[in-house]
Amino acid sequence: MSISINGDEITFSEDLFIVSKTDTKGRITYGNDTFIEISGYEEEELIGAPHNILRHPDMPRAVFKILWDRVQAGDEIFAYVKNRAKDGKFYWVHAYVTPVFEVGSKKIIGYHSVRRSPSREGLKVIEPIYKQMLQAEKTGGMDASLKLLHQILSSQKVSYDKFILTYE
Ligand SMILES: Cc1cc2nc3c(=O)[nH]c(=O)nc-3n(C[C@H](O)[C@H](O)[C@H](O)COP(=O)(O)O)c2cc1C
Repeated sequence: MSISINGDEITFSEDLFIVSKTDTKGRITYGNDTFIEISGYEEEELIGAPHNILRHPDMPRAVFKILWDRVQAGDEIFAYVKNRAKDGKFYWVHAYVTPVFEVGSKKIIGYHSVRRSPSREGLKVIEPIYKQMLQAEKTGGMDASLKLLHQILSSQKVSYDKFILTYE
C-alpha cells in the first residue's frame, strides 16, 4: 500500500481505495484515511466542505453534469476524475459513485464514492478526450462538450458505461 509523488502527480497503488461520502448537496461527510492523506487536507478542512474543493481545472464540467444527473436519478456511475490536492499536485482516480438511500425507501440521503488508481492505458485514452471537451466548453459551453463526448462514443459504438469500464 503506497502513495508516490512523481513531479506534480500523486499516484497510489492498486490496493488502495479512496473513499468519501457526501450529503445530498455534495458536502463531504466522511473521508477515509487514504482520501485525507492523498488530498493533503486536514480532516477538519474536508468535513462539511463541498466536494468541489478537489476540483481540478483540467476537468470538463460535462463530466460532473453526467455524474450528478446519474446519481440524483438514483443510479450509479463510473468516471475518470483528475483531482487537485491542497498543494496543487494532481491525482487521477477511477471513481464509482452511488446514491445512498434511506433504509426501506427510495429517498436519497447522500452519496458515496469509492476510487481506485486508474490504468495508464485508460488515462492515455481519457486525457485527450477531456482536453477536447474542455476546449469545446470554452467555445461552445456544456452542450458542445456533451455533444463531443456523444460523438466519440457513437463513433466507437459504445455506451458511456462500457467505454469507461473498458480500461479499468
Ligand atoms: C460522492 C461524490 C463524490 C465526488 N467526488 C469528487 C471528486 O473526487 N472530485 C471532484 O472534482 N468532484 C467530485 N464530485 C463532484 C463535485 O460535487 C462537483 O460537482 C465537481 O467538483 C464540480 O464542481 P462544480 O459543480 O462546482 O463545478 C463528487 C460528487 C459526489 C456526489
